[in-house]
Amino acid sequence: MTPEQFLEFARVLPEALLMVNGDGQLLAGNQPAANLLGLRRQEFKQRMLFDLVIEPANDLIKYLQACSTSRAMILGTLTIRKNDGQTLICRSQGAVIQPLSSESSALILLRLENRATTSNNFVLLNKKLDELSKEIQRRKQAEEALSKANEELEIRVQERTKALRQTLNELQLTQAQLIQAEKMSSLGQMVAGIAHEVNNAINFVYGNLYYAQKYIEELLELVKLYQNHFPNNPPEIQNKIEVMDFNFIIQDFAHIFQSMMTGTKRIQEIVQSLRNFSRLDEADIKEVDIHEGIDSTLMMLKHRLEAKNECPEIIVIKEYRTIPRVTCYSSQINQVFLNILANAIDALEDSYKNSSLSVINSQEAESQKLYISSPKIKIATDFIEDNWVTISIQDNGSGIDEQVRTKLFDPFFTTKTVGKGTGLGLSISYQIIVKKHSGQISCLSTPGKGTEFVIKIPINCLNKG
Ligand SMILES: Nc1ncnc2c1ncn2[C@@H]1O[C@H](COP(=O)(O)OP(=O)(O)O)[C@@H](O)[C@H]1O
Ligand SMILES: [Mg+2]
Repeated sequence: MTPEQFLEFARVLPEALLMVNGDGQLLAGNQPAANLLGLRRQEFKQRMLFDLVIEPANDLIKYLQACSTSRAMILGTLTIRKNDGQTLICRSQGAVIQPLSSESSALILLRLENRATTSNNFVLLNKKLDELSKEIQRRKQAEEALSKANEELEIRVQERTKALRQTLNELQLTQAQLIQAEKMSSLGQMVAGIAHEVNNAINFVYGNLYYAQKYIEELLELVKLYQNHFPNNPPEIQNKIEVMDFNFIIQDFAHIFQSMMTGTKRIQEIVQSLRNFSRLDEADIKEVDIHEGIDSTLMMLKHRLEAKNECPEIIVIKEYRTIPRVTCYSSQINQVFLNILANAIDALEDSYKNSSLSVINSQEAESQKLYISSPKIKIATDFIEDNWVTISIQDNGSGIDEQVRTKLFDPFFTTKTVGKGTGLGLSISYQIIVKKHSGQISCLSTPGKGTEFVIKIPINCLNKG
């Protein structure tokens, strides 16, 4: 836009308008502007804005620079020095009409307004604007403070939640241990009580069997003597001898005593196993024979290994190596064997039930049935690295899929129905082996083929952790 074009439109407007360049040189102005500045219009050309106002040149240059890059009106204040020496405070609004180029400096439109004549409204408005901007500032600060506080709160809530979750986990674990410990302790007491009573009773039988046999043998000898000395029996006695099958009784009597002996011996063994299992009569930490512990645990589970409900007998294969005695919390170690063996039996019963449900027409099902029809548990022990004992308990049951395997040792994790599973067995076993005995427990499984639990414990847990 040329100064002439500017004048063309500025002429018809009632407000004071000036056209200046970026360096502050006046290029043109309309009549109201001339009036305001106290100049004649012809005098505009070649005048510098700096000469007409009292604001420091630096401030003015900054203001003009701001205007020369803004399409929106930039507000400012210019104090005009009139020819008669008076000053006039004007509000100015400036914006670029032609940006700076390589050929010419920027062209700026300035709109001037006498502050004295602008209504009080303007001052009020300015004040209001000022207050408003302060209020906005305050709110912004408050908002920032609030969002910061919020963030801190969020972080604290997260920390709390984490701590609470951990406490909850610990509590659940403690609760699980307490429940199991309570169960085991009352079971142990009961087992020990029964063992004691049965032991007393069987001692009567066992202790007297010897004498009973002796007495009967003597009586029989006496009968034989009678037979030798009085071969001709009266008919009544002869009749009795035939009816009672005297010769058979003499033969059978030895067998009867033999089996009574075996039976009572067996009961004594069972009682010993019950005692081993409960270990209530012994100190907490003890040097024990691990094989004895496994055997007495198997004895406890004997009824579950027998064939029943179409599920064939579970065969237990023992591969015991020579291992040293182990110093440990023996009743707890037995509890681990019980938990793992019970799980293996559950898995074998389960896979048998499932396989009998499936159709047996296909070859695959047929072979599976064959495979399942000999449910087995293999228990192997070994002595390694000078001071570790390993116990592996392996079944050929349903196996465990990966998803379940990762949760095995979590307290309360179970895949069994309510009432059947508590989900505590393995978590307790983990606590006993890892925490109490500084050992290791791991699970290997191929779904459909079986599961193996491997326990590794130091031969003296007192020397560890
Ligand atoms: N030998 C195994 N074969 C298959 N699954 C097993 C075996 N041992 C453990 N499991 C799985 O681990 C889960 C947790 O076992 P456990 O902690 O003893 O609790 P529970 O026996 O009460 O379910 C069982 O529900 C079962 O799904
Ligand atoms: Mg279990």
